Amino acid sequence: MQRHEVKRRRRWRWVTAASLALAVAAVVAGTGEEPARAAARAEEAGARAAFGAAYAVFMHPRCLNCHPAGEQPLQGDDSRPHAQNVQRGRTGNGKYALKCSNCHQTANVAGRHMPPGAPNWHLPPPGMPMVFEGKTAGELCRQFKDPAENGGKTIAGVIHHIEEDPLVLWGWSPGEGRTPPPLSRAEFVAKMKQWADGGAPCPE
Ligand code: HEC
Ligand code: HEC
Repeated sequence: MQRHEVKRRRRWRWVTAASLALAVAAVVAGTGEEPARAAARAEEAGARAAFGAAYAVFMHPRCLNCHPAGEQPLQGDDSRPHAQNVQRGRTGNGKYALKCSNCHQTANVAGRHMPPGAPNWHLPPPGMPMVFEGKTAGELCRQFKDPAENGGKTIAGVIHHIEEDPLVLWGWSPGEGRTPPPLSRAEFVAKMKQWADGGAPCPE
C-alpha cells in the first residue's frame, strides 16, 4: 500500500467518526426541545382538525340558510330560495314592506311549515354579508379571523357569538320538520374553543 493511500484511509476513518459523534450529539441535544415542539405541532394540528369538524355545522342548512351567497335567505333542509321572493334588504331585515318580523316571531310558531322564530330574526346586512354558502373550510376560517368580514370581532368575540347568540342557539331547537346540525351544541362549542385555544389555525 502506498503511503498517501494509507493517509487517505485514516482521514476517512476520522471523518466517519466525527460525523457519527455529531449525529449522536444532535440526538442528545434534541431530546430537550423536540418533544415541546412536537407537542405544539400536535396542538395546532388538533385545533385545525377541530375547525374541520365544526365546519359541518356552519355548512348545515340551519346555519347556511341565513348565511347565503345571494340576496335571499334560503329555506328547508334543501336550502331552496325563500318563498315569496323575500330579500335581504338594506339592513338584513327584509326589503320594503316584506320584513322578516312580519312573519318571524321571537319563537317558533308550532306546526310544520310555520315560520321559525328567535329574537331579532334577520340576515347579516349587505355591507357585511358573512357568507357561509360555497366557502371551503379554509376560506370560512380566514373570514372568521378577519374583522373586516366578521363584523369587527376578535376570535374571542366569534366564540362568544356562537356560544350566546339567540340565532345560533335556535339551530338546536329549529321547530317541527327541521333537522338540527350534525354536532350537539356542546360539541360544536368545544370544537370552536379548541380551535381558538390552539391559535386559530386554518385548513388550506
Ligand atoms: C335567522 C338568521 C340566522 C341564523 C339561523 C343563523 N345566523 Fe349566524 N348570523 C346572523 C346574523 C344576522 C349575523 C350578524 C349578527 C351580528 O354580527 O351580531 C350572524 C353572524 C354569525 C357569526 C359571526 C360572523 C362571522 O361570520 O364571522 C357566526 C360565527 C354565525 N353567525 C354562526 C352561525 C351558526 C353556527 C348558525 C347555526 C347554528 C347560525 N349562525 C345561524 C343570522 C343568522
Ligand atoms: C311572508 C312571511 C315571511 C317573511 C316576510 C319572511 N319569512 Fe322566512 N319563513 C317564512 C315561513 C312560513 C317559513 C317556513 C317555511 C317552511 O318551513 O316551509 C320561513 C322560513 C325561513 C327560513 C328557513 C329556516 C330553515 O332553516 O329552514 C329562514 C332562514 C328565513 N325564513 C329567513 C327569513 C328572513 C331573514 C327574512 C327577512 C329578510 C324572512 N325570512 C322573511 C315566512 C316568512
